[in-house]
Amino acid sequence: MSGEGQGSGPARPSAEGVAAADLIRALAALEREAEEAIPAAATPDELEAIRVRLLGRREGRITAILRRLGELPPGERPAVGALANRVKAAATALLEARAAELAAGAREVAGEDLTLPGRARWIGAAHPVTQVIEEVCAVFRALGFTRVRGPEAETEWYNFVALNTPLDHPAADMQDTFYLADGILLRSHTSPVQIRTMLAHRPPIRVVVPGMCYRRDPFDASHAPAFEQIEGLVVDEGITFVDFKAPLAEFARRFFGPRTATRFRPSYFPFTEPSAEVDVSCPLCGGAGCRTCKGTGWMEIMGAGMVHPAVFENVGYDPERYTGFAFGMGPARIAMARYGIPDIRLLYEADARFLEQFA
Ligand code: PHE
Repeated sequence: MSGEGQGSGPARPSAEGVAAADLIRALAALEREAEEAIPAAATPDELEAIRVRLLGRREGRITAILRRLGELPPGERPAVGALANRVKAAATALLEARAAELAAGAREVAGEDLTLPGRARWIGAAHPVTQVIEEVCAVFRALGFTRVRGPEAETEWYNFVALNTPLDHPAADMQDTFYLADGILLRSHTSPVQIRTMLAHRPPIRVVVPGMCYRRDPFDASHAPAFEQIEGLVVDEGITFVDFKAPLAEFARRFFGPRTATRFRPSYFPFTEPSAEVDVSCPLCGGAGCRTCKGTGWMEIMGAGMVHPAVFENVGYDPERYTGFAFGMGPARIAMARYGIPDIRLLYEADARFLEQFA
């Protein structure tokens, strides 16, 4: 049963067959559809699906109309036929044009301006302080140092006592140190790893020790309560003050540039004797004096000194046989000096607009 001749199908308005007006209306609708759908096709597959729907040999809707021209009264065929051929030609031209665009990679879709520049992809990078740590350790690696680590939670003995710092020394004060429990604290410097290294190994020792340290300091332009340090320790027979100065001056030249000058100012630390503050000629102004070096031409980069004999005694080394030197620097301060950063908080606020400048 096809229903033919029952008069119930909507496609057959008259006994003659199809009405010319219906075909003209259908062709106009198909032309509009072609003009909208074809340029919006986003992929070659989508375009092919539209082609099959409109012009496919078996199911194509324009094809179907062309096939039915013969059902029209002879006088109406030329006009409708011409229109059908025009719509077919227009759709074919649109299909070809869109196929060429897609092949060329052009993807302009109605309603979107694809000529706008793309959004830059978010590329991660190491934090500027981490970059400084990696570079400093790489320079010392080239000078023969091994990189080691130690715990951030320490005992008073490692953090103070073994480093010749009595617990009534101001540095050990409850006000300056974060205590976790009785006798256990967040290390206030990386120097306890000197002790751990000397207890675990015999000389010769050449190590650098990057890591976090904690002090009960205000969070202001030049202090942070949590900050990185890089410790250094060298112990061997016959290490002199010259052996102490030369590698640090060489480090300064390799890190800040070949013309960097170094100076050692007398200082005091309980675990070194003699002690020094090490300055480098200001990497920003070259020593002429600028805002970052406060007009002095120099920038302090580390505390250092020859290891105190009492420290050797605390780890069971014979101070008559061994000598050595140690240093401790703050990579955040070095990053500030190097890049002219005026406030240490910028390094610890995790503001991507600031940090991405160093990516
Ligand atoms: N530990 C010292 C500080 O934090 C720095 C230092 C390290 C000084 C090693 C001398 C030798 O200030």
